[in-house]
Amino acid sequence: MTGISIPLVAWLVAAICFIFSLGGLAQHETARRGNWLGIIGMTIAIVATLVSGKIGVIHGDITHAIQVGGSVLLVIALLIGGGIGVVLAKKVEMTQMPQLVAILHSFVGLAAVCVGLSNQLLPHVEGHTISLIHNIEIYIGIFIGALTFTGSVVAWGKLDGKINSKPLTLPGRHWINLGMIIVCILLAWWYLSTTTQWGGMIPLILMTLIAFVIGAHLVMAIGGADMPVVVSMLNSYSGWAAAAIGFMIPNDLLIITGALVGSSGAILSYIMCAAMNRSFLSVILGGFGSDGGAPAAAANDDGVQKDYNTTSAEETAQWMLDSKEVIVIPGYGMAVAQAQHPIREIVELLKEKGIRTRFAIHPVAGRLPGHMNVLLAEAKVPYDIVLEMEEINEDFEATGTVVVIGANDIVNPGALDDPSSPIYGMPVLECWKAEHVVVMKRSMGTGYSGVDNPLFYNENSAMLFGDAKASVDAILQTLRS
Ligand code: TAP
Repeated sequence: MTGISIPLVAWLVAAICFIFSLGGLAQHETARRGNWLGIIGMTIAIVATLVSGKIGVIHGDITHAIQVGGSVLLVIALLIGGGIGVVLAKKVEMTQMPQLVAILHSFVGLAAVCVGLSNQLLPHVEGHTISLIHNIEIYIGIFIGALTFTGSVVAWGKLDGKINSKPLTLPGRHWINLGMIIVCILLAWWYLSTTTQWGGMIPLILMTLIAFVIGAHLVMAIGGADMPVVVSMLNSYSGWAAAAIGFMIPNDLLIITGALVGSSGAILSYIMCAAMNRSFLSVILGGFGSDGGAPAAAANDDGVQKDYNTTSAEETAQWMLDSKEVIVIPGYGMAVAQAQHPIREIVELLKEKGIRTRFAIHPVAGRLPGHMNVLLAEAKVPYDIVLEMEEINEDFEATGTVVVIGANDIVNPGALDDPSSPIYGMPVLECWKAEHVVVMKRSMGTGYSGVDNPLFYNENSAMLFGDAKASVDAILQTLRS
């Protein structure tokens, strides 16, 4: 059993926990278990690292004193970082999650840069010679880490409203990016052919600065509507940056975890792009929404204001009661208004009256994958009445009443029949086929993509204006009385 230590086995167990955690998180029913498996895996990983006797060891032996000192520093860092994490997790709203995730990714990127630069310095200090492969790991790790860092900071700024969400499209921006990448390749050649550690620092630092600019420039060119895909893509990059750190340190668990995050982030980005009918490349190359899309004004071609129907909570309640089938479509506005709890009570009341009520979930409803599912699970809505778009899209025709709660783009018929629409080709929930469609929102304003929605002007559609929570509460009161 030479070479197999208890920490090594523990890291393997932690890696298996992470794999099952990811698997669990993919389903409503198993998400809680998946979360626990992740926590258990991380706890095992931290404890195994603390007792491994490897803290501070990069090349060669270290003294017991350095090891104890390193462990103490690690525990202090864990307590500070964990404390900040707990406060943030308690404070952050579900709607602010994308920007929180973005800023957390930036830390992983920065960590990769710091580990890479310190790795470059270490052999010089200890007088070791290092291999070409190790230098390539350092170079790639720093490159990915640096662009993940600035890209994530810009994504956070855009999502948090600190930076204008409009895409910054500099003339010849693709050529600028290409030029910077070519310079980084030339710097790699300089770095790999340098024999001294300090000499290698010059191309390394130059490349780091250029990669910072590439990350910021790439994300600045991407509009707000594509930001969730960018966050998922940066999630993937941060995983690859972590894997690169794993190769540098070296640490097998970090390599496995980084690869898991890297590949799952890439798959998620792909799924999101497919749900919006956008190609991954078109998202990365940016510029989407820079022409402002279709005007938000609700006017005909001749400039005359288009007509739309309005309704009341009482009328909506009556339509629901007169229907055999009701479908609820939640969107970003439901998350903002926190209307998930009263809507669950409405569903229970309707069920008691024999009216079948279900939820239709669009894959990119809200601002995060699974955003609506999390809110409905929090409100204890049974999983079996929460259906994905493909499962329910054909049922709208036979539905009496559809209630759209703070959703807009995901129910836009223009995505199917208006080739000039910026969201043309995006699959949407075809709710307009139902007998009555009630749209709850505060105004005739557009959704995330900034595109007007023809659904609002249909004869069978009616706007129920106001905060979604207030509207849903009012319907609930009417149904109770
Ligand atoms: P949106 O199209 O953004 O529409 C949300 C609507 O909610 C707005 O029109 C807004 O209208 C309304 N609203 C906001 N606060 C409200 C409140 N307190 N009460 C009532 N209504 C409120 O949302 P959606 O339909 O969920 O579509 C999601 C969008 O995000 C899509 O464009 C999608 O492509 C994009 N996106 C999402 C993801 C993921 S993974 N979810 C990823 C990439 C892109 P008022 O201001 O008039 O109230």
